[in-house]
Amino acid sequence: MINPLEIGDLKLKIPVIQGGMGVGISLSKLAGSVAREGGMGVISTAQIGFREPDFLKNPLEANFRALKKEIAKAKEIGKGGVIGANIMVATRHYKEYVKNAVLAGVDVILSGAGLPVDLPEYVKGSKVKIAPIISSLKAFTVISRVWERKYARYPDFVVVEGPKAGGHLGFSKEAVQQLTQEEYDKVIVSIVEKAKEYSQKAGRKIPVIAAGGIFDRQDMEHALSLGADGVQVGTRFVTTKECDADTRYKESYLKARKEDIVLVDSPVGMPGRAISNAFLERVKTKPEKITHCYQCIEGCKGKDIPYCITEALVHAAVGDTEHGLLFCGENAWKCSKIEEVKEIMREFSGNNT
Ligand SMILES: Cc1cc2nc3c(=O)[nH]c(=O)nc-3n(C[C@H](O)[C@H](O)[C@H](O)COP(=O)(O)O)c2cc1C
Repeated sequence: MINPLEIGDLKLKIPVIQGGMGVGISLSKLAGSVAREGGMGVISTAQIGFREPDFLKNPLEANFRALKKEIAKAKEIGKGGVIGANIMVATRHYKEYVKNAVLAGVDVILSGAGLPVDLPEYVKGSKVKIAPIISSLKAFTVISRVWERKYARYPDFVVVEGPKAGGHLGFSKEAVQQLTQEEYDKVIVSIVEKAKEYSQKAGRKIPVIAAGGIFDRQDMEHALSLGADGVQVGTRFVTTKECDADTRYKESYLKARKEDIVLVDSPVGMPGRAISNAFLERVKTKPEKITHCYQCIEGCKGKDIPYCITEALVHAAVGDTEHGLLFCGENAWKCSKIEEVKEIMREFSGNNT
């Protein structure tokens, strides 16, 4: 059996956090289902309002409205379980997203794709727990020092995301290709050690959550053996009945072979991982015409990009796999069937009976 994960007054019966997955992959159904089974369910706020009728005209308003609805629904499905929001630091209007998520009653905010230096200020006055998602010891040290100095606060927990993860990655393409599991294991161990130091200063434990390529119970046990207190899992939850993506998106995972999973340069200046498809082949030689800006990510170069990431990810979420960017983790080829969240959580809990 396995130790529960305690984050202050929040308790996860099973130390599994479902990774936030945008656009439209982890919304209320998936997050609520994971929370109900004793893990942490996480909604991705990335262009969360893509189904709202005014999304094209007023993306920000549509997103805030949808955020409120999805959090309320996730809490209802989750029946008292823990619900988080994944808000990328690089999101335009990041601060407003955080404030809206707090108002909507989320328990936790997790932020990667940049360092969330002012996150403590944005959640001030609430009980919301905050966690950076980082990929190196340096990033963990920098964010902890900044929070300590500016806000006399420490992370409530930290997610350490390795090179096997899905979506945008916190490494250069070269680093992803060169880093071995053994080398990255050492990074996790160094962060565990640093977290112990900060835990002493904070007067409470700062749990370390390992992420990236954790597919089954064995992967989880390996992460725990390195000193991690829990795991964050994305890819494995995509092929669940409850995942919010279109069935065709899930089928693309079931069909993918190991060699179909590739690294891509995302137009927002970060490398990512995705399933190779007609869309990726096409944009290599023929950039798409950009006709509209959805105000998504800081750092997008606007007119010099081969495609609009919001459009590509929305196409994927609604099942247009020929025109969509199919983000996935390195282990997506291992997905072989549609499962129920309950079964996966049971496997991770070690209670397979
Ligand atoms: C389809 C997909 C979309 C993702 N979108 C986001 C996102 O919007 N923000 C984020 O911080 N991480 C994102 N991630 C990363 C996951 O939250 C998770 O940490 C990571 O995928 C873990 O590795 P795994 O997929 O091998 O389990 C995404 C991952 C996938 C597979």
